[in-house]
Amino acid sequence: MEHKAVGGITFSIPDGEFAAIMGPSGSGKTTLGQLAAGLLMPETGLVYVDHIPTSSRKKRFDISNKVAYVSQFPEHQLFEETVFRDIRYGLRRKKYSEREITAKVKDAMECVGLSFEAYKDRSPFQLSGGEQRRVALAGAVVLEPKILILDEPTAGLDPLTRGKFLALLTVLQRTKHMTIVCITHHLQDALEYADRLVILNNGRLVYDLKPAEIRCALEDPAIALSPTPLLRFRKELESFFPGKIDSELVQENKLLAFLTDRLMRTLGDES
Ligand SMILES: Nc1ncnc2c1ncn2[C@@H]1O[C@H](COP(=O)(O)OP(=O)(O)O)[C@@H](O)[C@H]1O
Ligand SMILES: [Mg+2]
Repeated sequence: MEHKAVGGITFSIPDGEFAAIMGPSGSGKTTLGQLAAGLLMPETGLVYVDHIPTSSRKKRFDISNKVAYVSQFPEHQLFEETVFRDIRYGLRRKKYSEREITAKVKDAMECVGLSFEAYKDRSPFQLSGGEQRRVALAGAVVLEPKILILDEPTAGLDPLTRGKFLALLTVLQRTKHMTIVCITHHLQDALEYADRLVILNNGRLVYDLKPAEIRCALEDPAIALSPTPLLRFRKELESFFPGKIDSELVQENKLLAFLTDRLMRTLGDES
């Protein structure tokens, strides 16, 4: 009855990278995220966090100081009476003074776009879905991890909130130099925000590529990646102007800038 959730996977994520982990349901994404966070131990093979094997018992504490894991639907794990208490929970075993704790919680809240004064005393249960996700993210950020692993952090959020949440992650990547590992089902989000896409299928790593290289994965019938509207539009443009559309143009702003530039030139030539 044995079933291998993931196997034969070798890859590494360099410091400061934003990696998106993708793949159909049951492909092993959550398992991989939990292995990377040191929450699951592999039966065979090794997982290193910042050069420390997660299997090392002696270094367990070091690893837990380096990685923060935000599970899927993290709002199910909010339980304290106030937002402040919920976020500070992860600091309970650290020897910080009350003043330091308050400063850290405040910083983490501002980092995720929650005003300290407006939210600290509110009940986490009376917040919107997007606000609850931010509280959960602040609970991870307050630990000041080097590496942040998130399992489908935007699942169930409306498109606007989803975009804002992802933008927050890139801010953490840039300002706090965090390495971000984000499991997601949204191809366009991954193309917009990630430096790299790691695609799993049946517990195997099938693609490890840059956003600009997504075409080869799309053309592979073995993995069910459906092209996003933007990629379909790009393909259409390509059929009209073969070889003229740069492979880097898989992001909305880049494609728009490119089209605007060409349009301006054409209009300029006409006048
Ligand atoms: N606790 C578990 N016990 C048995 N099988 C599991 C368990 N967790 C996950 N699996 C199986 O492992 C595979 C990978 O699961 P998972 O990592 O959750 O995939 P994903 O996150 O991509 O949907 C699936 O086939 C799933 O059914
Ligand atoms: Mg999962």
